[in-house]
Amino acid sequence: MVFRHKHILGIEQFTREEIHFILDTAESFKEINSRQIKKVPTLRGKTIINVFFEASTRTRTSFEVAAKRLSADTYNISASTSALVKGETLEDTAKNLEAMKPDIIVMRHNASGAPHYLADRCDFSVLNAGDGAHEHPSQALLDLMTMRQHKGRIEGLKVAIIGDITHSRVARSNLLALQKCGAEVRLCGPGTLLPTGVEQWGVPVFHRIEDAIDQADVVMMLRIQQERQGKTLLPSLREYAMYYGLNRSKLSLAREDAIVMHPGPMNRGVEISSEVADGPQNVILEQVENGVAVRMALLYLVSGGEQLEV
Ligand code: NCD
Repeated sequence: MVFRHKHILGIEQFTREEIHFILDTAESFKEINSRQIKKVPTLRGKTIINVFFEASTRTRTSFEVAAKRLSADTYNISASTSALVKGETLEDTAKNLEAMKPDIIVMRHNASGAPHYLADRCDFSVLNAGDGAHEHPSQALLDLMTMRQHKGRIEGLKVAIIGDITHSRVARSNLLALQKCGAEVRLCGPGTLLPTGVEQWGVPVFHRIEDAIDQADVVMMLRIQQERQGKTLLPSLREYAMYYGLNRSKLSLAREDAIVMHPGPMNRGVEISSEVADGPQNVILEQVENGVAVRMALLYLVSGGEQLEV
């Protein structure tokens, strides 16, 4: 397959075949990460700048590790140390970065659509590392890679996504990717954490976690994104944990071989108990491991893919 995307802005832009092609490419990169010398020359001479206007541990490090394993030169800018705090517009920041001739900008921003805005105005490739509550494509791809590894397929899997759906770009990107690949998605959360119009998303919505989890193959837990909530949407976290937190007894309603996923950061004791987070069904650190391979694949593919030497 010829990969024709200059930017990775959201799962929205991909077909089912393209999603599987990206996952296949990531599989082929995975092995590099367990070599003694974890480096190939594929992106030698390419310049990648990570511009993160929001907090991040996993995603930023994962993109940087991925770029370095492919021998690209990487630079990091975060909001607190950039001129944005001095009142510069996003466009001015981008134009100044463009003048330094980067090949790829990996961007996380609290405004939905910020990466699209740059992609329309600048020469470099833009990779969306999370824009507001909109999309987080690399996260959904690493999640699908992890599901496919464990279950051998995506099609027909029953995937329950539970928690703060309204504020979660992870939920939106996963929903899009899973629908395109033929999984059966169920969404679940308290009414205040489900977006208006969720009934039109084309998937069943549950208010009781027990109903959403019933016979699920995959249980994906989400964090309560307090930093995105203008006001308190929950009476108390203790009550949330009681009704929506995943513990061993609730998990027993899922299929016996169900896997438990979480994009991180986890709030132990809120959406997930430690016995489940560290239990035999969790694949949370495999998600992180696959994240590096997926991001290597994305950086490789937007840089011209097959034309490069691996
Ligand atoms: C998520 C994010 O930032 O959207 N984390 C991540 O990238 N792994 C989810 C979250 O912040 O809860």
